[in-house]
Amino acid sequence: MSPVQPVETVTVDTGDTRYDILIGADVWADDASWAGLPKAAHAVIVTNTTVDPLYGDAVAARLARLHSRVTRVVLPDGEAYKDWATLNRVFDHLLGEGCDRRTVLYALGGGVVGDMAGFAAATYMRGVPFVQLPTTLLAQVDSSVGGKTAVNHPLGKNMIGAFYQPRRVLCDMSVLKTLPAREFSAGLAEVIKYGPIADDAFLGWIETHLDDLLARDAAALAHAVRRSCEIKAQVVGADEKETGVRAILNFGHTFGHAIEAGLGYGEWLHGEAVGCGMVMAADLSARLGGMAPEQAARLTSLIARAGLPVRAPALGEDRFLSLMRLDKKAEDGEIRFVVIDAPGSASMRPAPDALVREVIRAHGGA
Ligand code: NAD
Ligand code: GLY
Repeated sequence: MSPVQPVETVTVDTGDTRYDILIGADVWADDASWAGLPKAAHAVIVTNTTVDPLYGDAVAARLARLHSRVTRVVLPDGEAYKDWATLNRVFDHLLGEGCDRRTVLYALGGGVVGDMAGFAAATYMRGVPFVQLPTTLLAQVDSSVGGKTAVNHPLGKNMIGAFYQPRRVLCDMSVLKTLPAREFSAGLAEVIKYGPIADDAFLGWIETHLDDLLARDAAALAHAVRRSCEIKAQVVGADEKETGVRAILNFGHTFGHAIEAGLGYGEWLHGEAVGCGMVMAADLSARLGGMAPEQAARLTSLIARAGLPVRAPALGEDRFLSLMRLDKKAEDGEIRFVVIDAPGSASMRPAPDALVREVIRAHGGA
């Protein structure tokens, strides 16, 4: 079957590893998408109880053309299960089924499944190949690309993990049709993020095409996913292990992580917290002189149009600050923020507490 829309390719090249992200309306239905993947007798699909009934059989049938044996691990759905005990279920399956070093893992799901399957692939027998089949917008534009894999620890999110790149990422726009609206908006936050940090023209494109995106128009989605992946591939290619520039991908995340942790994980979706966090980080950038106030207001209005919250929960100024000091980017207790220096350009820097307090107060967080 040929795709109804051309498949676009973005290549990630870290120096050590090179792989393609294929993007289009029916990428999974196109034979060419699967050509050249590692040959192995056994493939294991790692998925969850929500995604498996939607896409598990179709993907298993597709993989049966490439591998003589295809088995599945179906994990419970939710961030609460992104933990060591659930990861062990993947290892139980791999060992129980006699999987060897050639076995290929296919991560079929959103960021939770992708991060866990990736970490399982990074560590099972010291590393087996894996392929990302992302089914949420957030996973297509962010988590499936760049090789960050992890599970949560009771004392911190994504604290146990590895950098481990997939062999390929197959982004099929058609699977986004079944994504709940709230999850879709959360993914839009990560799409919008790429504008202020790297490409002001892309921000303008999103403003113009937001209604098409919200209507899940496949061509608009493919463009948004492609441009997002191009920017992420460029950043990851320059700094795979996040020793420098990769941190700009966390624009809005310092405020956002405080919101997620302060409310209790799961109360707001990650993308919702990032949306509001970007509103606050844009304001901070404006107060530091890197962003014109009208640019910050423009970003806020786009985030609101995308269906994301723009008013912070009232966690309290001190609590907000202390939660932000736990952020992975903090150094010696000093909070460091991704701030916009100019349209389409960002950097990391500390900000005076007094200024951060003003931002928290201005957005309802006090
Ligand atoms: P998720 O994986 O929990 O998926 C959201 C919900 O949508 C789940 O209930 C899921 O079962 C459901 N779902 C998935 N695809 C669907 C579809 N096509 N139709 C209907 N329902 C579908 O959440 P997410 O937002 O995709 O990912 C969040 C996770 O990603 C977090 O754990 C976060 O830490 C991680 N993350 C990782 C990176 C990275 O670089 N590795 C980057 C950003 C986020
Ligand atoms: N999601 C941020 C990163 O991949 O670095």
